[in-house]
Amino acid sequence: MKLKITLLPGDGIGPAVTREAVKTLRIFDGLGSDFEFEEALLGGVAIAETGSPLPIKTLDKCLSSDAVLMGAVGDRRFDALPQSKRPEAGLLALRRALGGFANLRPARAHSALVSRSPFRAEVVANVDVLIVRELLGGAYFGEPRGYTDEERTSAFNTIRYSVEEVERIARVAFQEARSRKGKVTSVDKANVLETSQLWRETVIRIAREFPDVALEHLYVDACAMFLSLDPRRFDVILTENLFGDILSDQAAVFATSLGMLPSASLGGDVDLYEPVHGSAPDIANKNIANPIGAILSAAMLLRYTANLPAEAASIERAVEHVLAAGYRTPDIAQTGTRTISTTEMGDLIAERVSDAVHQQHAYHAV
Ligand code: NAD
Ligand code: IPM
Ligand code: MN
Repeated sequence: MKLKITLLPGDGIGPAVTREAVKTLRIFDGLGSDFEFEEALLGGVAIAETGSPLPIKTLDKCLSSDAVLMGAVGDRRFDALPQSKRPEAGLLALRRALGGFANLRPARAHSALVSRSPFRAEVVANVDVLIVRELLGGAYFGEPRGYTDEERTSAFNTIRYSVEEVERIARVAFQEARSRKGKVTSVDKANVLETSQLWRETVIRIAREFPDVALEHLYVDACAMFLSLDPRRFDVILTENLFGDILSDQAAVFATSLGMLPSASLGGDVDLYEPVHGSAPDIANKNIANPIGAILSAAMLLRYTANLPAEAASIERAVEHVLAAGYRTPDIAQTGTRTISTTEMGDLIAERVSDAVHQQHAYHAV
């Protein structure tokens, strides 16, 4: 199967982590998939070169590809620009254009990292949560929005959700729960917001299509607390755009670092894969960023777009193996482990994947 993948390395640590993800993907080139990679500009680098955070050329390339692999966007030089011209606006416009409304953000407490977590081992051991974040609605895209006057004496945003938007994301969460532990926690603020009341009513109705899946509801404030106090109570967390953004960074704590988390945005015309973290300007250009979130996003690409679940699993196993062998980027390092760079981490994971793939092929050849 030929797959056209557009790479959007973006800003800050984006290019460094994307390079490592591509290194691993290339191992599968010619083995079940033929990849054609093309790079394009998004975010601050695109503003610097073209004046726009999402140039038409980039959008056209993305729309004519099978999947998009993004690094990160965000550049302090452009922080003072109006919202619609910032690097982040390019990413939001891209998400909307590609159409992936279901943002899957898996977050696990990897066994090799449990002793590095700020939480006690018995609180986080075996934690495995999938956040299903609605990605194209809510405050991010709601109209009207803006400032009330030129002097900027006040500003406003709109949270808006339609029944259809909630139905389609709820079905994704229930489907995912079926192949996991069979539990959905729907997170809202139904004690205050009409959009959350509509969210809750709709989720309860859709749950009837999935009698085999258990459903619980939590308010977002309580959910934030339980993510630290007892993350093992969660299987699938279903939530709206803004709450999902915040809760997924919080889930990074039991995963030990934001650099560990991948994501996939599915359900639209073109699938989009990106690590959960941002451009991390505090560690950019030092070759110390953790590339695992980007590499695991590439694994999700193999699973969901390329339909190569065994190959995806081999990347996930390689990550576990390299962590268990004690190799760590600085964000996850601890006493007794060996601190390595972004490129070294990418090399070790790619080598391990390559060994596994070649053993597999040698086995089939016998
Ligand atoms: P951030 O995710 O960039 O960084 C938060 C903290 O986590 C920093 O201390 C950073 O060093 C650390 N971190 C993040 N990724 C890491 C990795 N791979 N390895 C090691 N440490 C890592 O969030 P921020 O600092 O709040 O935002 C910086 C910029 O990134 C802003 O412009 C923001 O808008 C943007 N942003 C973009 C995305 C995206 O492109 N999807 C996501 C979040 C933030
Ligand atoms: C994320 C980021 C983005 C979001 C920003 C950069 C627009 O924080 O992917 O989590 O809020 O969705
Ligand atoms: Mn975020």
